[in-house]
Formats: sequence, C-alpha cells, structure tokens
Amino acid sequence: MPASLKIPVLPSVKAFREWRQSLDNRSIGFVPTMGALHDGHMKLVDRSLSENSLTVVSIFVNPAQFAPHEDLSSYPRTFDGDMRRIHEAVGRDSIDSSETPKCAVFLPTVEDMYPSGIVQNIEDQKGTFVQVKGYEEQMEGKSRPKFFRGVATIVTKLFSVVQPTRAYFGQKDIQQGLLLRRMVRDLLISHPLPENLIIVPTQREKEDFLALSSRNAYLTSIERPFAPTLYQALTAGRQVWEEISGSGSREGVVAAAREVIKRRQEEAIQAGVEMRFDYVEVNDPDTFDVVNWRRKERPEGQPVIISGALWIGRTRLIDNLLSGDTKEIFNQL
Ligand code: PAF
Repeated sequence: MPASLKIPVLPSVKAFREWRQSLDNRSIGFVPTMGALHDGHMKLVDRSLSENSLTVVSIFVNPAQFAPHEDLSSYPRTFDGDMRRIHEAVGRDSIDSSETPKCAVFLPTVEDMYPSGIVQNIEDQKGTFVQVKGYEEQMEGKSRPKFFRGVATIVTKLFSVVQPTRAYFGQKDIQQGLLLRRMVRDLLISHPLPENLIIVPTQREKEDFLALSSRNAYLTSIERPFAPTLYQALTAGRQVWEEISGSGSREGVVAAAREVIKRRQEEAIQAGVEMRFDYVEVNDPDTFDVVNWRRKERPEGQPVIISGALWIGRTRLIDNLLSGDTKEIFNQL
C-alpha cells in the first residue's frame, strides 16, 4: 500500500498534537464529523483532499450539542464503515506516490475534549463554553435551544487542536456553517481564517433529492417515501419567493410550504406514518433575522435562506434552499 493511503488514527489530543508537530508546513483541510459518514461527508472530504496536501477528519459524537431528551445514546456509531469510506476517498484521490499520508483521522475521547467534564443538563454543566449570541436563537436554534452553544464549543476546541488551513461544512446545516464563520471572525481565530471556512452545497439522493444525513438511517421503509416532503415544501416556498413580480414574501413562502406538508401529511396518515411539522422560515444569511420584506423591496439578488424541519416518525429531518446571490455563502468572491 502506498504511504499516502495509510491513514493514521490519532486517539487523543496528545497523540494528535505530537503527530502534527512532526509535519512540515503542509496545508491542512479539516472535516469535523460525528461519524456515520455518508456521501455528503465524503463530498467534503473529496473537496478537502483536492485543496490541501493533508486532510484531517475528526469523528466525535459531541454530548454538548444534544439536549437531555435527544438521541445521543442511539446516534449511529459506525467506525469501521467510516474508515472504509475514508480509505476509498483517499484511494480515489491518490495520484501521487508521496511517502506521507494524505489523510488522518482524529478520534478523541469525551474526557479529552471536556477536561472539566460534561453532563447533558446545561444547568449542571461546569467549565468553558462558547456562545455566538444573537445567532443561536433563530431557525434550528429556535427548535433546539443551546444546540449551537454545544457546536460552537466543540468546534472551537477542534480548531484549537487541529489548527487547519481550511475547514469544510455542509450546506444542509447552513446555520451551523454561517454561525461558525462568524465565531471564527469574532474570536480572531487564524486557523482557519473566516474566508477559509468553506460551505459546500448539499448532497442529495439522486432519485428524490432527499438531503443526505446520518439521521436518514433512522427512517423505516414505510417512512422513507415521505422523507422528501420537506424538500418538496421548501421548493414550493422558493417558487413563491422567486415569483417574477417580486411580490414573494415570507408569509407566502411559509404558506406554500405548509400546504405541501399538509397534503403529504394526509397521505402519510393513510400509510400509518406520523409526520409532524416543526418549522419553515425565511431568514437573512447575514443577520439571521426573519425576512420581513418583499423580494422587490431589496436590491436584486439579496440572498435568503428558506429552511425548515419536519419529523417523520422519530426522525427529525432538516433542509434548506437558498435564493439570490449565494457567492459569499459559498466562498466564491
Ligand atoms: O455537523 C456535525 O456533524 C457537527 O455539528 C459537528 C460540526 C461535527 C460538531 O460536532
């Protein structure tokens, strides 16, 4: 096996730091994950492999971003499969015969990442946490309060250990990517710089455009046909927003999306599937404020996020579509 295909697995912060010190001045691309890797993650890994001489994938199921009633203990853990996928990606990319690895996996323990300990209940937590105030409460943050506190905290720690040149996040979690870019800017983090926190477009199933997610694995075979409902609802909403007259409004988007969900809900009941609406919202990608203007009232191309969440049985699915000029979001300036 060429050395570039060997993938070191660093099981602690200490091991990672020692290994990183031994590296020469190489560009490091970082893909933080909670494991259960799917094609969406692999798209981030492929992009990182193509833009950096070394890619680090972290696998860490972060307790601080799960509320006490959420699925921390049942979250899919598939380490062997994850390693297989990473090997395949490195193999696909491996056109050189360099003696140094192109990819490494950082697999820290909970004790390592939370030296002061971590419990699920926020009131009982002790230690240092990171908040991005004013940007954690909308969209996903409204349904999952404190979720982004957990994400911002772990990603700050991961950046501090990995010190990446670039970091890659998926558009499916658009609020997460934009909030972390802001956090990097506010905390004056240099590895990565805000412009090197890269958001990669959502990877979807080819046949029905369901956004790929580790949580799709929870869907039963009867539930699965109803999973693209959210995408269909957001698409209907985006059509309203993009109406040629420019009269598209937040209310119109939400109403169109809810209508699609209502229709599919009736079919779901017939099939014995429970479908519960969580939210659909239209937000500004910069301020995260709910958009309260009609499209024609702002400069042409002003971008918006149309996002939502929907429960199918016990699986909570999220998705979003963008409208307008997305160059800044996708680092294309
Ligand atoms: O998107 C995820 O998988 C997680 O929120 C992340 C960024 C790995 C932090 O735990």
